[in-house]
Amino acid sequence: MQEQQSDIKSADSGPAESGLGKATMEKITSLAKRRGFVFQSSEIYGGQSGAWDYGPLGIELKNRIAAAWWKEMTQLHDEIVGLDAAILMHPRVWEASGHVENFTDPLVDCKKCKNRFRADMIPEENLTSKKCPDCGGELTDTRKFNLMFKTNIGAAEDSASLIYLRPETAQGIYVNYKNIIQSNRMKIPFGIAQIGKAFRNEIVTKNFIFRTCEFEQLEMQYFVKPGTDEEWFNEWRKRRWAYYEKLGVKMDHLRWHQHGPDELAHYAKDAYDIQYLFPMGWRELEGVHNRTDYDLSRHTQYSGKDLQYIDQDNNDRYIPYIIETSAGLTRNVLMILCDAYDEEQIAEKGDADDWRTVLRFHPNLAPITVAVLPLMKKDGLAELAQDIRRELMEDFATDYDQGGAIGRRYRRQDEAGTPFCVTIDYESKDSGSVTLRFRDSMEQVRVNRAELIGRLRKEIKEYKRI
Ligand code: GAP
Repeated sequence: MQEQQSDIKSADSGPAESGLGKATMEKITSLAKRRGFVFQSSEIYGGQSGAWDYGPLGIELKNRIAAAWWKEMTQLHDEIVGLDAAILMHPRVWEASGHVENFTDPLVDCKKCKNRFRADMIPEENLTSKKCPDCGGELTDTRKFNLMFKTNIGAAEDSASLIYLRPETAQGIYVNYKNIIQSNRMKIPFGIAQIGKAFRNEIVTKNFIFRTCEFEQLEMQYFVKPGTDEEWFNEWRKRRWAYYEKLGVKMDHLRWHQHGPDELAHYAKDAYDIQYLFPMGWRELEGVHNRTDYDLSRHTQYSGKDLQYIDQDNNDRYIPYIIETSAGLTRNVLMILCDAYDEEQIAEKGDADDWRTVLRFHPNLAPITVAVLPLMKKDGLAELAQDIRRELMEDFATDYDQGGAIGRRYRRQDEAGTPFCVTIDYESKDSGSVTLRFRDSMEQVRVNRAELIGRLRKEIKEYKRI
């Protein structure tokens, strides 16, 4: 009961109390917490930086984003298959991949306040004068800091038992590439897609779930014949751009950024980021990389195994080039939350101070697709609403809410991003029709119960953000 009251308050407050305007990271973080999208990890112990927990609405949103990507990258392509490789891999993998040597950030510490900074993120004059940007104390020399988390496997904690938490999912794909060719009779060009956790000991983890130490990636590695790599690189750039368009993301909030020579990762010949205009500015959302034959050549060298592709049609052998598309799943969750966030004055529907916070998720991504709301609990309306809900449950993610004024219940659903509400009233008992209310336009239409599922399916298929 207590929880529900605070929920009503939060749905009614938001814009009016926090100042009107665009999405800010504070507003997104606070909405994410109060509505159960994302919580700070280990909050009751003061929190664990760099780690976040996904609540009931957050896990639904994350799962739907992952499912949309999986469908796009596997189901819609005959030549792309999936994989779920282990997080723990042989330590030699990370020597071969170059991560032991090169996966580092430049780091400086303040001898006085003990704060730690990434040298490439503080002003140049602080580096030359060796002055701490926070307290003016003396900074240490810049040193390389490897981002990989180390742990030990087995009982002994010595160098023989050293093992890393993977910093990218990609290597699990490369070491399985021959297995997949053999088991699934893949022919070049072909791809392998994977969704999974990755870990990086990030020094700077601000901006909510943007950069964290534990996160998830959506990666696809596309194996191509050398010489065709640039063509495939451009093709995948086009496809990944079109994907975000299909997802209904605001396209003027996306742009390309090509890596300059000083930004290129140790494995890349060419790389473009898709950047999104987050509340803190333009930031990387996804990378498309031409990784050449670097990874497979290095694994050949370090494992002693022949990783050449044998082209039986042309009697040819070569190490394939790899085009990689690599997005953050958890970073996509943040992007979708920011993209969907809206505050709208609805004066024409009520008084001038009436505002609502609404998450305009695409119905395919919304954690709840349909909420069923009886106008009253009494006179058999709740029973009828539950009966309709049971019917909808088989086809859609549903919610049921019978507490409080109907206007407040609509606001709660708007704030959770529910695109459709179905209201059951006295007319529903008599005529069998219900009210279908649209989140974005707030329009309401009457629909016969028998036509409800078909109508919802049509609305989802034809959804366009207004
Ligand atoms: N396999 C290539 C690779 O990992 P990356 O540019 O380092 O490339 C790919 O990472 C994507 O993973 C980024 O575009 C970003 O969306 C996500 N990502 C990387 N580091 C992250 C972090 N610390 N927290 C959240 N997401 C991260």
